[in-house]
Amino acid sequence: MKGLILAGGCGRRLRPLTYTGAKQLIPVANKPIIFYGIEALVKAGIDELGIVIGETAKEIHDAVGNGEKWNIRITYIPQQAPLGLAHAIKISKEFLGDEPFIMYLGDNILKEGIEDFVHQFEKNKPNALILLTKVPNPQEFGVAVLDESGAVKQLIEKPKEPPSNLALVGVYLFDPEVFTAIENIKPSWRNELEITDAIQWLLDNRFSVESHMVKGWWKDTGKPDDIIEANLLVLEGIESVNNGRQKDSEINGRVRTEKGAVIERSIVRGPVIIGKNAKIIGSYIGPFSSIGDNTVIENSEIENSVIMEGAQIRNVEKRIDRSIVGKNVVISVTTKSPRTHKFILGDQSYVQIIK
Ligand code: G1P
Repeated sequence: MKGLILAGGCGRRLRPLTYTGAKQLIPVANKPIIFYGIEALVKAGIDELGIVIGETAKEIHDAVGNGEKWNIRITYIPQQAPLGLAHAIKISKEFLGDEPFIMYLGDNILKEGIEDFVHQFEKNKPNALILLTKVPNPQEFGVAVLDESGAVKQLIEKPKEPPSNLALVGVYLFDPEVFTAIENIKPSWRNELEITDAIQWLLDNRFSVESHMVKGWWKDTGKPDDIIEANLLVLEGIESVNNGRQKDSEINGRVRTEKGAVIERSIVRGPVIIGKNAKIIGSYIGPFSSIGDNTVIENSEIENSVIMEGAQIRNVEKRIDRSIVGKNVVISVTTKSPRTHKFILGDQSYVQIIK
């Protein structure tokens, strides 16, 4: 079975982070989100993977490479515009051929992986298998309605009045009948060929569509708060590993430090991950923080946050909480005159200062 990862979207809801980078490459626990999807597919036995790419093609290609890292073959499939998930399948027809395949949205992370899901598909051989989970905000997803026996009855994309709280998780298994379905649907109000409509077409035309309930947590990392939440969920499962150096510091709980990391006169309370060559000096790093490679954190306090590669945070008295700090960002408090705030912020940056 082949795998298809979609990484073509432009990540509008994650600006400004996505002005300079692909949303699938935002790090969660210091690892690009898309790597979690690739690893889940590899674990389920996929060794031939297609990745649909758009505007951020080059960055994704540079970060992911040709698959050598995972001992698989990767083919890149360019999509000229984000015209929908079903459109992405349509343009991948040549790569996918006449075999069943698994599609994985490049911004989704699942704790338990996808092996059970693949087994169900191989055992029952339905035309489509969808993955579902209960959510508190179904209007933000594709929503499924099941009948009393658990069979899939109806699917609706982002309904204003959701008929159930079962959201479609971004992992799907299909046989080649999905191509017929896609030929028969029209673009939605947002001008996208929706995969939800293609699956509904399969249902309406008496093809078999099965569902599988997600075990463990699932996160679609579409918005900044989702990144913070996904980071928390992944860090919850890390083990302590110490590859760095510590001096006059207190380290509690599960903390993973990479090579060249230095922690001096600091308190670190896990779960926390500290990247290569990061310097933590006179600071407090609290639970659920991911500190990227080559960062400097000096005389500052951080909790529940994602601090990316090369960022520098110095002398910030108040604790930084639930924040995402992009690559090479500098945040510093100075005592030098003139005592002014100075900001050089890109479009749609967000700063909150508390008195
Ligand atoms: C897409 C699908 C939606 C699904 C979601 C899961 O939404 O259209 O049905 O529930 O992924 O991540 P989008 O991320 O395009 O808004």
